[in-house]
Amino acid sequence: MNIILLGPPGAGKGTQARILEEGRGMIQLSTGDMLRAARTSGTEMGQRVAAIMDAGELVTDEIVIGLIEEKLNGDHGGGFIFDGFPRTLAQADALGELLEKHGTSLDAVVEMRVDDDALVARITARSTCGDCGEVYNDLTKPIPADGKCSNCGGTEFKRRADDNEESLKVRLMEYYKKTSPLIGYYYAKGKLAPVDGLGEIDAVASEISTVLDA
Ligand code: AP5
Repeated sequence: MNIILLGPPGAGKGTQARILEEGRGMIQLSTGDMLRAARTSGTEMGQRVAAIMDAGELVTDEIVIGLIEEKLNGDHGGGFIFDGFPRTLAQADALGELLEKHGTSLDAVVEMRVDDDALVARITARSTCGDCGEVYNDLTKPIPADGKCSNCGGTEFKRRADDNEESLKVRLMEYYKKTSPLIGYYYAKGKLAPVDGLGEIDAVASEISTVLDA
């Protein structure tokens, strides 16, 4: 099964992708994570994308489509979870073509609905484990009291450079201008499955499961 998790910054895409990986043996493909890995690798592409990401703008379609294309050549496992991709109509068209080339297709697009006030609160309280990427939140999922990641035992936690109110305003605007048209795009294709992303993490996971098993 191949699915897209579609939603604004902070909607919980990464959190739910990790739950789906564990529960269903699917493979998370997060273009945000790929770009963050590229920027720390010191490559020319990494340097180019760093400034764009910190400002909250979208990286070019050409770069992200190239990153996804490389990953689709790997093992399909239990299917792919596209997290943060596609983000433009051009990326959506490219994904359809790439999946077809690999003899597969998209099963569902889970649209995670969360209002803007909750997004700001979530993002400004987020941290991640520096070793395994487990996502925490000062308010709703704090780092364990012993200071060790519950997933891998790591003790280094980081906050993202773009997790501030200024970048978030730009990220939200980019979402509404360039990514939200995908809601209509996938609705027209009969793939759209909206879920209430405002519930607790387990409640959202359960709603997504119901949608995927329908
Ligand atoms: P990316 O890394 O994709 O960031 P994003 O879309 O802004 O999404 P986030 O990772 O911020 O949020 P999320 O929905 O995964 O939420 P999370 O689960 O962490 O992209 C970063 C940048 O890379 C972009 O701005 C752009 O520059 C570039 N980029 C990436 N892909 C691109 C593309 N395709 N094209 C062009 N440019 C691209 O949760 C957030 C917080 O909330 C956490 O603390 C979590 O614990 C908490 N939380 C989660 N669920 C709940 C819940 N149900 N209740 C309470 N708290 C919750």
